[in-house]
Order: sequence, then structure tokens, then C-alpha cells
Amino acid sequence: MKNIKNEEEALLQREYIAKMKAVTEKKEKELGRKMRYHIETLGCQMNAKDSEKLAGILRDIGYEECEDESLADFVLYNTCTVRENANLKVYGRLGHLNSVKKRTNPNMKIAICGCMMQEPDEVATVRTKYSFINIVFGTHNIFKLAELMYRLETEDRMIVDVWEGTEEIVEDLPAERKYKFKSGVNIMYGCNNFCSYCIVPYVRGRERSRDPEDILSEIRELAKEGVKEVMLLGQNVNSYGKTLPEPMSFAALLREVEKIDGIERIRFMTSHPKDLSDELIETMKDSEKICRHFHLPLQSGSDRILTLMNRHYDRAKYLEIVRKLREAVPDISLTTDIIVGFPGETEEDFTDTLDLVREVRFDSAFTFIYSKRTGTPAAKMDDQVPEDVVKDRFDRLLSEVQRIGQEMSGRDEGKVLPVLVEDVNRQDKHMLTGRLSNNTVVHFRGTEDLIGQIVDVRLSEAHGFYYIGELV
Ligand code: 5AD
Ligand code: SF4
Repeated sequence: MKNIKNEEEALLQREYIAKMKAVTEKKEKELGRKMRYHIETLGCQMNAKDSEKLAGILRDIGYEECEDESLADFVLYNTCTVRENANLKVYGRLGHLNSVKKRTNPNMKIAICGCMMQEPDEVATVRTKYSFINIVFGTHNIFKLAELMYRLETEDRMIVDVWEGTEEIVEDLPAERKYKFKSGVNIMYGCNNFCSYCIVPYVRGRERSRDPEDILSEIRELAKEGVKEVMLLGQNVNSYGKTLPEPMSFAALLREVEKIDGIERIRFMTSHPKDLSDELIETMKDSEKICRHFHLPLQSGSDRILTLMNRHYDRAKYLEIVRKLREAVPDISLTTDIIVGFPGETEEDFTDTLDLVREVRFDSAFTFIYSKRTGTPAAKMDDQVPEDVVKDRFDRLLSEVQRIGQEMSGRDEGKVLPVLVEDVNRQDKHMLTGRLSNNTVVHFRGTEDLIGQIVDVRLSEAHGFYYIGELV
């Protein structure tokens, strides 16, 4: 079931890539060197994946990557807006970049895209206060980068192209993968959950699942190119497929991915407890490839706050899922996200969160201070919690999470387990760094040629959140 319109769009974009390539070649001749790009990616795995697609387009138009943004001809900020301090950081860095451009690199072109640009107020700020920026686009039209760059060549003014939403999923465009042996794969876009604190549904739009055949053929292609681990990406993967013309469950999709030769590890991100099915737990139990790690955002341990957050589960349901997961997959590692200081959170609500954290015993948790996002229902709620109270709760939660994480870590000491080798160790080039199925990092002595392979390693010493091991 292919959408003709999307194929036409992909074709059109390939034409723009060819046109921009000609422009790039001309500039290359003038400069006597390759044109360089630098992409700064903020935020989640979705943004990281988008940046790989943007890098693929830049590669195809003839640019090469440059680590130092001050030396790049084209600098792109792919932004996140989940919490406000991320936005402030971006503006700070853009201001600095402008002074670099003025001083040493006057031909530098600067572009900004991603979730922040889906907010009209932020685009207005860019227009008025950051008018040195050349291109502004959003999350729905990243596939148009070559077209926007081409327009900049011909129109010579700030190009702003932000779409409010989209039904379209444009397939078959280039991507530049960061790693040869592992890759993220989008299975769905957007989110329909409207958790009351969260801006994502407003900036990433309505939930749209990709056609399963498109996903599977992309993964088969990746496997042919040597990819061993895929990370299936969506804001709420557990509701994958519900809106497809022929509905398909996430568990059923996982079983199809499992059949693909060459793929040895399957991860996914992110899950929502409300849609987590018994079928998924059974599928994980029976699978040889799905990794022994579950990231299951809790957000709060208080039933009252969970209702105000519009999360559609309570602590009893969350605990029940944890029980079933651990029963089916005893060696599973559980991680979570927790927000502290949601409007109206009392000391009692917070104690409920602490108690739940103690009961579940997460391997690790990302803890966030609630950030008020304009346009979300929570921003209008009375009773925003004073900053000093939130800070105190945050510190208490963090120390509890860390204490438990320390106790949970090291439970595989002495075992021999498979490790996917990812890199040469940054501190010691005779050492390699890789990950266990449950996502724990392992450092061990070995040579670079092992990168991308899955090897057996004895986990000799547990060091808090990582192991030192030996190749067996
Ligand atoms: N304030 C703080 N944390 C937030 N998150 C999402 N929105 C907010 C917000 N307004 C957190 C949630 C989510 C993670 C990706 O970011 O915990 O799971
Ligand atoms: Fe935000 Fe909730 Fe959607 Fe996650 S599920 S992206 S927290 S609205």
C-alpha cells in the first residue's frame, strides 16, 4: 500500500539534491576544498534519527562532516523543547555562533529545525532577535532540506518553512548512519496521548504508524549492510499499528523483525504503561533477539498526580506490569523517567513516588524537574510548586534512585555474557567498550577489528554502572 504522493515528493527532493550538488561543486572549485557541515543534535532518539536523515541529504549534495562548528560552511541546530532550559541553551549557543561567523567565517550559513521551531513564539523570536539565521524549518518537513538550501541560494533571505502538521510519511530518502552496526528505525511519528505536562503532541503532531512492509524492508536492507542491532523508535511504540488501514500490534511487528536474518538485537523506545499488552510480554519472553531491557516511564507514583497528568494508569497497574515483566523475563533491566514538582504535588504525593521507586527498584532512572510548557493543560493549573521545594524533592529522589541503582548493578558479576562491541575506549585505546543485552556498559581489552561484533565477555569486576571484563 504505497502512497503515490509520497513517491512523487521523494522524486522531487532527489531533483533538489541534484541541483544543490551542482551548486556545491561550483563552491568547492572556488574554495579548493570540500564544503563542510556540522549538525548539533539536542533531545531524544527521534531527533538523533532525524539528524541522520539530514546528514544523509547533506552528504548527497556533496558536503562532508566537520566536528568543529566554527569551521563549517553549514551549521544546523536540531532542537528539543521538552523542557524550557533546553531552549535557553540553544539561544545562548546561537548568539555565540553568530559572533564566530562575524569574526572568522562570514560565509557560514546557519539553520535551525526540530521541535522548538514547531512553536510559533520561538519562530517569532528567531525572526526578530536572531535574524542572522538563514533557514528555519520544523519536524514535519526535514526531507525538504535540499529544497530549502536551494531556495536560500536563489532568494537570499531568511527561509522559513514550518508545517503545522502532516499526514505524509516520505519514505526512501538518504540517511547517513552514525554507526555501521546499529541503527534507529522509525516505526511511528507523533503522539496522541496529551499527557498534561508534555509539549510533544503539539510539536510532533498526531500519531502516524509506518506501513509494516516499509519498516521490514528497511530493516532487511540494514541487515544486508551489516547492521546487527535495531532500535525501533516511536513516542509510544506500544500503540503501534492501531491506526493502520489493517491494524497490527507492536508485538506482531516485533515477531516479524525477529525473523530477519542478520539482526541479532532488537530494542525499542519509548513505551507507555497504559498500552503495554500481555502479548508484548509473551513476545519478549519467547524472543531470542529482543533485548533484556525495558524503559517504562513512570512519571509519578501518586495516583492523584497520575490522573492530573492524564496518564491513564495508576500505581497498582504499573506494579502489576513490572511484576509480569520480571516473571516472564527474570534478568530484565528496568529503567524509567520521573517528573518532580508537577503542579499541586504535595509532600504526600512525592512520598508515594519515593515508595514506588523503592518497591520497583529500577536499574536506573532519568529524573526531571517539571518544566512549564506554554500551551499544555498543566501550564494553566494552579498550585505550581515553589522552586526550593522542588529542588529539595529532586535531590531526595535522585539520591534514592542512585542508591538503588548501585545496589542493582553488578548482579551479573562473574558471568560470561554476549557484548556488542561499540567503540574503542575513550580513555585507553587498548580497551573496547560495548553493551550487554540489558544495556549495561562493559569495558574490556581487545582490538578495533571487533567493533560491530557480538563477543562473549567475562564480567570480572562490577564498577557501579559498568563492568570491566575479559574476552573469552
Ligand atoms: N517537564 C519535565 N519533564 C518532562 N518530560 C516531558 N515533558 C516534561 C516537562 N514539561 C519528561 C518525561 C518524559 C521525558 C522524555 O521527558 O518524563 O518521559
Ligand atoms: Fe509526551 Fe506523554 Fe506523548 Fe510521551 S506519551 S510524548 S510524555 S504526551
